[in-house]
Amino acid sequence: MKKIVCDGYDELSRAAADIVAEQVSRKPNSVLGLATGSTPLGLYSELVRRQSAGEIDFSKVRSFNLDEYYPISKDHPQSYNYYMRENLFSKVSFASTRLPDGNTDDPQGECAKYDSEIEAAGGIDLQLLGIGINGHIGFNEPADSYSVATYLVKLTESTLAANSRFFANGETQPVSALTMGFGAIFSAKSILLLISGQNKAPIAKRLFQGKIHTDVPASLLLLHPNVTVVIDRAADGS
Ligand code: GLP
Repeated sequence: MKKIVCDGYDELSRAAADIVAEQVSRKPNSVLGLATGSTPLGLYSELVRRQSAGEIDFSKVRSFNLDEYYPISKDHPQSYNYYMRENLFSKVSFASTRLPDGNTDDPQGECAKYDSEIEAAGGIDLQLLGIGINGHIGFNEPADSYSVATYLVKLTESTLAANSRFFANGETQPVSALTMGFGAIFSAKSILLLISGQNKAPIAKRLFQGKIHTDVPASLLLLHPNVTVVIDRAADGS
C-alpha cells in the first residue's frame, strides 16, 4: 500500500486528479470505478477543470460507480445517480456511465447484471474509494462475512447516522443500498483510496497498522497488490 500524505484537502484533490489523469492518458478507454461521498468532490471539480482546460479527455472512458441507496429514485437529490450527474457527468462527457439502479424491483437481478457488465467491460482499471468512519468501502459494512458479488446490503446505524445530515428533517432515509462487493473492487488493476479530515484519523490509524481487522472492511485492501492511499495530514494525524 503506497501512501501519499498531503498538507490539506486541495492538495489531496490535485494529487488524486494526477493519478486519474495519468491512468486516462496511458489508457484513453480506461474503465474507472467511481465513488461518492464528500471526499471525492474536490477531485471531481479538479477533473472538470482539467477537462475544460483540454488537459484530459474522458470521451472514451467508461465508468461504474460503487454503490447506490435502495430504494431511491435516480432524481432524488440524495441519490448517488443525482450526485454523479451534478458533480461530474453533466460537466464531463464519458463514453458510458453506470450506477446500480436504486429503483429496480428486482435488486438481485440488478446486482447480477451489474457484475456481468463490469466483467464484460474487462474489469476496472482504476477504482476510486472513500472510507466510512467505521471502515466501510462502497457500502461494504463491517460484518462477519463479506460478499464477493454486488449485493443488497442493510446499512449500519453508524452509516445511517453519518449520512443522515444529507437528508432533510422528516425525509425517509433509505436503510439499504446496492453495493459492489469485494470481487469487482479487487478485480481493479489499481485502487486509489482517499482519506480526508480529522474524523477519519481513528479509522486511518487502524488501517495503517498493517493488519487485517475483520471488523474493518477497508483493511482487506492491504491484500491488494496496487493500492495508493492519498491522505491529508488531518486524517493522518501527522
Ligand atoms: C458513503 C459511501 C462511501 C463513502 C463514504 C464516506 O457511505 N457509500 O463510498 O466512501 O460515504 O463518505 P465521506 O467521503 O462523505 O466521508
